Amino acid sequence: MYELKWNLGILITACLNIIQIHTVPYAPDLVGSYCNQPDGAVCCNGRQDSCAFPILGTLCYCDAFCEQHNDDDCCPDFLFACADGPAPVYEATCPHKGGTIKAGKTVWDNCNSCTCTFLHNRTELLCHQPHTCLMEKRIIDTVNLQGIGWTAKNYSFFWNQTLDKGIKYKLGTLQPERFVMRMNPVRRIYDPNSLPTEFDAESVWPGDVSGIVEQGWCGSSWAVSTAAVASDRYGIVSKGRQRINLSPQHLLSCNNRGQQSCDGGHLDRAWMYFRKQGIVEEACFPYTGRIETCNRHYLDRCPMRHLKKTNKYKVGPAYRLGNETDIMYEIMKSGPVQATMKVYHDFYSYERGIYEHTDLSIVDRTGYHSVRIVGWGEDRGRKYWKVANSWGTEWGENGFFRIVKGKNECDIESFVLAVWPELEEY
Ligand SMILES: *[C@@H]1O[C@H](CO)[C@@H](O)[C@H](O)[C@H]1NC(C)=O
Ligand SMILES: *[C@@H]1O[C@H](CO)[C@@H](O)[C@H](O)[C@H]1NC(C)=O
Ligand SMILES: *[C@@H]1O[C@H](CO)[C@@H](O)[C@H](O)[C@H]1NC(C)=O
Ligand SMILES: *[C@@H]1O[C@H](CO)[C@@H](O)[C@H](O)[C@H]1NC(C)=O
Repeated sequence: MYELKWNLGILITACLNIIQIHTVPYAPDLVGSYCNQPDGAVCCNGRQDSCAFPILGTLCYCDAFCEQHNDDDCCPDFLFACADGPAPVYEATCPHKGGTIKAGKTVWDNCNSCTCTFLHNRTELLCHQPHTCLMEKRIIDTVNLQGIGWTAKNYSFFWNQTLDKGIKYKLGTLQPERFVMRMNPVRRIYDPNSLPTEFDAESVWPGDVSGIVEQGWCGSSWAVSTAAVASDRYGIVSKGRQRINLSPQHLLSCNNRGQQSCDGGHLDRAWMYFRKQGIVEEACFPYTGRIETCNRHYLDRCPMRHLKKTNKYKVGPAYRLGNETDIMYEIMKSGPVQATMKVYHDFYSYERGIYEHTDLSIVDRTGYHSVRIVGWGEDRGRKYWKVANSWGTEWGENGFFRIVKGKNECDIESFVLAVWPELEEY
């Protein structure tokens, strides 16, 4: 009898314990994530005792059984996570930009989307697949603190964009193929000492040099710089008689063999198309920075203000300039040239001064871009090129930038091209 009572006691105590485990009261405002896990909600069908999470020294459940039989042993976030229920009554928050945001909310932090997530007993702002952003505070601040000859700026039109998107859609020059890189530079005969220390095509040939283009979010620098260099040379070589603005959209849309339109293009192929097929004026096929259909029938009827024999503007074969002084001599004689440069992460934030890439940016990805060198100069003993970019006039020095000259900075002196326009007699 005594034994039975004793055993019964144990049995009762054991039962009580079980009941106690399942009915243990917990504060409904308990901050925490249970069914709601960082990689997604854990919700189970029927009754699954293993579908549980520790809470206050016991367990709470995320299975349907808990809801049907005893709400008290469901985890506090069960209805929210598993049954489309209202958000838990408690307001867990994450600090964000001096304020707070509610748990479950997603916010943009520069180019990343981040969610205030429960992690058991705390909340944390977790960013989904964090990307490197085009504008990074770290780069801007360091460049400006270091005083390295140029300043950096946070461009609002680049904010909230990823570096990957910048490389893909703000540049757009495919690396020259090996055989093109072996193209021999032309030889020029001149006295290098006769070259001036400053030269600006815009002031030497006012009205002949093209303006700054905004390529938009389209990797079209291959087409934009090609059309601009040719336009400049038409005006300069014709002594202002054939001032034209040639259409980069024509190249972007129609030069598609081996080219990738807004995903980038090869310069040698662009020049070859220009030479063989010719290009119309901008007014006839205006730039949209999108992939437009190439309507050859329409382009064949574009008015050509300066042409009688042919119906497109053409150029001779592109040639390569081999070194600093050859590039200078070429610009002085016949106008701006096309250069391909390696773009480092810090370049996007360039504001003004003489650019030189910093070692801050060498860890990040780079891309190739083509630009137009319009002149050169010297500032407190530092030699620079003056270069036209194609990111609009809000960027850099009214759309231009200056870059260290004579040191092949960013490879800018290693693949420089020029062409001769095919003028009809005038
Ligand atoms: C959350 O739990 C961890 C252990 O799991 C503990 O180290 C930490 O102090 C707890 N944080 C809070 C805010 O209670
Ligand atoms: C950069 O500019 C954007 C948009 O103007 C602004 O929201 C952001 O806070 C700025 N970032 C920094 C680091 O200054
Ligand atoms: C940032 O970009 C994303 C996607 O590109 C967009 O959904 C979001 O609204 C943008 N945020 C801001 C603050 O501009
Ligand atoms: C560049 O090459 C030319 C020959 O094409 C040569 O006369 C000149 O000295 C070279 N300049 C430099 C800076 O090496």
